[in-house]
Amino acid sequence: MSSSGVGTAVGARIDVSLATPGTRYARDVFGHFVEHFHRQVYGGLFEPGSDLSDERGFRLDVIQAVRELAPPVVRWPGGCFVSAYHWLDGVGPQRRPHYDPAWRVTDPNTFGTAEFVAWCRAVGAEPYLCTNAGTGTAEEMSAWVEYTNAPAGRGRWADLRAEHGSPEPFDVRWWSIGNENYGDWEIGAKTAAEWAVLVRESAKMMLRVDEGIHLLTAARAELGWTLPLLTEAGRYLDMISIHGYWDDLWQADEPSAYGPAVSRSLGPQTEIERTRNILGAVDLSGVGIAFDEWNLRGWHHPDGTSAEAIAARDRNDDNSTYTMADAVFTAGFLNACLRNADVVRMANVAPTVNTRGPLFVHPGGVVRRTTFHVLALYAQALGERVLESTAAGADLEGGAVPVVDHLATLHDDGRRVTVALTNRHPTDAVACVLTLGGHAPTGTFDATVLDGPGPDAYNDVEHPSRVAPERVRVEVTEGSLLLPPHSVTFVDLPLPLPYAAGEVLAPAAHDLPWRLVGRSWSRRTP
Ligand code: AHR
Repeated sequence: MSSSGVGTAVGARIDVSLATPGTRYARDVFGHFVEHFHRQVYGGLFEPGSDLSDERGFRLDVIQAVRELAPPVVRWPGGCFVSAYHWLDGVGPQRRPHYDPAWRVTDPNTFGTAEFVAWCRAVGAEPYLCTNAGTGTAEEMSAWVEYTNAPAGRGRWADLRAEHGSPEPFDVRWWSIGNENYGDWEIGAKTAAEWAVLVRESAKMMLRVDEGIHLLTAARAELGWTLPLLTEAGRYLDMISIHGYWDDLWQADEPSAYGPAVSRSLGPQTEIERTRNILGAVDLSGVGIAFDEWNLRGWHHPDGTSAEAIAARDRNDDNSTYTMADAVFTAGFLNACLRNADVVRMANVAPTVNTRGPLFVHPGGVVRRTTFHVLALYAQALGERVLESTAAGADLEGGAVPVVDHLATLHDDGRRVTVALTNRHPTDAVACVLTLGGHAPTGTFDATVLDGPGPDAYNDVEHPSRVAPERVRVEVTEGSLLLPPHSVTFVDLPLPLPYAAGEVLAPAAHDLPWRLVGRSWSRRTP
């Protein structure tokens, strides 16, 4: 990308502060989710007998691709599936299929707790188990904790794990009590009062088995549900879980076009703010937010048990659905979480494999959809700290959504700022003027651009790389650089920066009043 955008209408002015080292965010916002739904597990990551699978039945090409996403944590086995799931069906040498009333199909149970933990270790992620608070009990939840985490000899469930061939504990740190138990679509839905007590009592039992686990539970940005929950059980919780899907495709699979889809880009920020306000209403500053199911596109699963209703789920596999709208929305979602890094400590894209996920798996291989590349960029290329910044600029036609979205990050070595810049406009390139610490950089910098040949571009089996990130050198003139339409651009700006006319500003410690001492920051002595 050569033009610096001089002469192009300015889409945004972004000022990044170097006055502080910013806020370190939790990498768990790059988390993932896999549910026993359609082909996410069976025929997705788990395909015994495939030439592409190992002896455990894990698709090795899927493991390789998921590792490119550097997932810190993966949530499993649901989602709605958990609300009638009994974990005992998925452990040990004898697996009996069970009819899953949530998704109205038979689950073979050949992929269970041990398989999931092993798969997480293979992709380098922490396992995160979501318990059954629909038909399940506090005792069943705490027994699962004992099965996974207690040393053999502690009790019958720990001994059972050892008998099943795993003498050492699995050490599962992340646990959720329930899934969306507020919804009438959920098996075993509860009232707010019932929910608060069940979570309190389940948390007590689980923590008495292993006080070291991190506990989350199903919440929502709605005072009537979440306030009683926090009042009764907040003291046991690390985070409350919220979910978001912004293109409602559950019943009618009519994916929104680029414009309408991108016009919903402020939705995640709204949900975060509402949830933050509810947390602020109770004196529980330590409780964070986990957006532990999110995607632009809702999954398609029309009601009913008919063969047609079940077969309709194949429509989720239409790769043409996942365009640059999904990529641009994904960048905006992650920016919203990272800008709220003080309270948002986990997010899990729903799901990782197949359905609406970044990775499409077919018998001959995998397709990295547009969102895959955005998730990989964010998980691999950002600095560890989010810098304070302000932005002003044009909005997309017809709404209050800014054309340009951004996130500025500082790497721990204090010598590099990586700025993620999104141009949401479907057709126009825009010039963005960027300053750091009040200085407008001039020079040519390393960058990665993901834009694709058009707003509706997508990857599929026949064209797996139609949309792919491109490493470029970007020319910046007095802070101005050009952003292609429907694009996500990562720019690396070294500190100190070449600011103007070849001058290299060599401020004391890069104009930062802070310097990195070991792994922590301390105010620079005058
Ligand atoms: O459409 C998938 C479902 O969406 C998940 O199982 C559930 O948690 C959410 O309502």
